[in-house]
Amino acid sequence: MSLHDHKILILDFGSQYTQNIARKVRECQVYCEIHPCTWELEKIREFNPKGIILSGGPASVLEKEAPQIDRNVLELEVPVLGICYGMQVLTHLLNGRVDPSPEREFGRAELMVKEFSHLFDGVKNKSIVWMSHGDRISRMPEGFRTTAFTDNSPIAAMEHPLNKLYGLQFHPEVMHTQEGLHILKNFLFKICAVEAEWKMESLATFSIDNIRKQVGNGNVLCGLSGGVDSSVVAILLHKAIGDRLTCIFVDNGVLRTGERQKVAETFREHFKINLIVVDAVDRFLDKLEGVEDPEKKRKIIGNIFIEVFEEEANRLGDFEYLAQGTLYPDVIESVSIKGGPSVMIKSHHNVGGLPEKMSLKLVEPLRELFKDEARALGTELGLPDEIISRQPFPGPGLAIRVIGKVTRERLDILRLADKIILEEIKSAGLYKAIWQSFAVLLPVKTVGVMGDARTYENVIALRAVNSTDGMTADWVHLPYELLGRISNRVINEVQGVNRVCYDISSKPPGTIEWE
Ligand code: XMP
Repeated sequence: MSLHDHKILILDFGSQYTQNIARKVRECQVYCEIHPCTWELEKIREFNPKGIILSGGPASVLEKEAPQIDRNVLELEVPVLGICYGMQVLTHLLNGRVDPSPEREFGRAELMVKEFSHLFDGVKNKSIVWMSHGDRISRMPEGFRTTAFTDNSPIAAMEHPLNKLYGLQFHPEVMHTQEGLHILKNFLFKICAVEAEWKMESLATFSIDNIRKQVGNGNVLCGLSGGVDSSVVAILLHKAIGDRLTCIFVDNGVLRTGERQKVAETFREHFKINLIVVDAVDRFLDKLEGVEDPEKKRKIIGNIFIEVFEEEANRLGDFEYLAQGTLYPDVIESVSIKGGPSVMIKSHHNVGGLPEKMSLKLVEPLRELFKDEARALGTELGLPDEIISRQPFPGPGLAIRVIGKVTRERLDILRLADKIILEEIKSAGLYKAIWQSFAVLLPVKTVGVMGDARTYENVIALRAVNSTDGMTADWVHLPYELLGRISNRVINEVQGVNRVCYDISSKPPGTIEWE
């Protein structure tokens, strides 16, 4: 049996929770993939899922061009679970009736289970569920029965057990649904009868085997940033092909204190990986000097990175493959139900231009994984906790945290303030609990008084946010004590700073980085 025999297919109708469904299914150690609701029947057959989940979505089946699935999907003799909009699609396709609710139901509701159902096996008779819908089922398709209800939804759950078709008006995939995971587990194990085979131990062996098959005797280059993703990729490749892997770490001059030494120590000395550390500090900083525009900073850093990497690769010899830490969320084809591409807020720096430019083939061993799975795999492979639980750090580094003109001097001020902040957050035991915490250097000077003298110096902003995927975030309620210590230390120890502010904006409307 391979790791992918027991698969679940999630057909996406554009819900903001679709990835949650996939993560919950994976948490149950079952492999699943997300595809757009328009995925062709042929491809679905070929994928050969043991069960299909229809996601929620922002549309109404009552609209003219409402997204649908091929009706034949329901004839595949594979169990189907429709969630929210997915349940309405089921109803619509099978000639039931969907109408606008008299009241939009949004948020908490109490679910009452009224009939035995495999879906609710072992689930409490009364529990809190999370709803978000404007339409509701007013007549079920033929052969269906209601198994649970809430005050506002007489048909909160319905099923046709013989045909293995199930619908839930609420969202089992969100945290607020108390019995959500239990219900999903019932669908997976009791109804679809899948086996829990997606385990990190087997995944490590499986990935290493796959890399060997793909790469054969070829040589592989890997851009190592020291972040979780590229670190896991490097370790996996090293286990698979040993010295035929060469990693390149580029010091671009906008790294944090000690970062370069740490990477060299971990990968070269501890893991004995071929690691080339390129000192390109002057090359980057000369081009960045005086640059103010955030997008320009990103472009400069992205372009020089590609140049440096390419030169280094040419110098090193022949490589056929480039390893990248692409994760599953980067691969999922997004569904744009209401039309129109999503607006670009910031151009993220990546090495996307490299493979074509250097005619390298890609090795992307994390393509099927969510970030938490990549972390679990890293732990399985023996990566130190320091790397596994590292907070995300943007490719353009400190350059986009020096607001306004980049100069070497301003970078040094920021670097020291950042070091102090991280030290304090770590010694308060909060580093792991926080998504990102860092310093930002503002482009204003303010008046202060130190001793008896007037000062006119820089302001540091402290940013600390919590998030699950970086898409939305909220500022962290750091203890006043800690804020006080950070402020004192930054002002006393960083020359040229006389004021510290705390950023209390969420995302949206703010972004995590200031540029
Ligand atoms: P924003 O600022 O858009 O950031 O809320 C969301 C997440 O992305 C990181 N970030 C970047 N990462 N290159 C990167 O590799 C970039 O240009 C970049 N800009 C933002 C940011 O740190 C946060 O984790």
